[in-house]
Amino acid sequence: MAHPDRFLLAGVMGWPVMHSRSPMLHNYWFKKHELAGTYVPLAIRPEGLAAALRALHPLGFAGCNLTIPHKEQAMTLVDEVDALAKAIGAISCVVVRPDGSLSGTNNDCYGFIHAIKQEQPGWRADSGPIVVIGAGGGSRAVCCGLAQEGAREIKLVNRTLDRAQAIARGFGGPIRALPWDERHEALEGAAMVVNTTSCGMVGQPALDINLDKLPKNALAADIIYIPLETPFLAAAHKRGNRTVNGLGMLLNQGRPAWKAWFGIEPEVTAELRAMIERTI
Ligand code: ATR
Repeated sequence: MAHPDRFLLAGVMGWPVMHSRSPMLHNYWFKKHELAGTYVPLAIRPEGLAAALRALHPLGFAGCNLTIPHKEQAMTLVDEVDALAKAIGAISCVVVRPDGSLSGTNNDCYGFIHAIKQEQPGWRADSGPIVVIGAGGGSRAVCCGLAQEGAREIKLVNRTLDRAQAIARGFGGPIRALPWDERHEALEGAAMVVNTTSCGMVGQPALDINLDKLPKNALAADIIYIPLETPFLAAAHKRGNRTVNGLGMLLNQGRPAWKAWFGIEPEVTAELRAMIERTI
């Protein structure tokens, strides 16, 4: 909870971490809410993660976010992992409880769904088949969110079929794993397609997919935000599809973190988005 007599602290642990836009995002909210506090990048090597997490309480941190490569390892280091983080297999947010114990959750799923809802009002997960490309941690959060929202059919395509099958087995329900060479055909009749692979990220090859079969009224989303428009989104946009990039997911996953750390649910405003876009 916010205390006028206390300097509020939170941060993001990663290795590397200096590229993270999270400090800019959270420090905007401190300013907006006129709170004395700060959010810092914490460059923590994997071998130092346990000690760093244990230091949160004595240092007076309300909690922290976790980014690459700590999201999975942290599962074994905190005192309690909630059901959602267990289902996703990764922790994105740690909350220090009053007794100093650490609880882990995952807000990536919330971030993805709320970004879509914010940017595409009227969107529904059950309006038609959804194709999810990729089967890493990002995909697990996206699949979990879509399934929770009532998606009836999720076609999960991944270069390594085993990983897609593992997610389909784990979540069950609407998720069906498909081999990589079926990715172009899988788009036929889809209401939505989401790229969760690293393809299209700065320094990575573009996603190799032919969008010819994608209906023109389908929504194309990417969880990448650097660049803001990946080649996949650019191709979708060019043929007339609506698109959503990954920035909204980053911005929105910060909201439940703030709620848990400081008791305030901050807003993702156009001003905030524009401020971060200018740095990309
Ligand atoms: P994250 O946890 O951030 O999602 P990850 O676990 O490394 O990252 O997953 C990256 C995803 O991008 C995986 O689905 C990966 O496919 P594999 O499971 O076959 O490795 C996918 N990916 C990375 N490079 C790719 C490429 N050149 N072509 C197709 N898929 C690729």
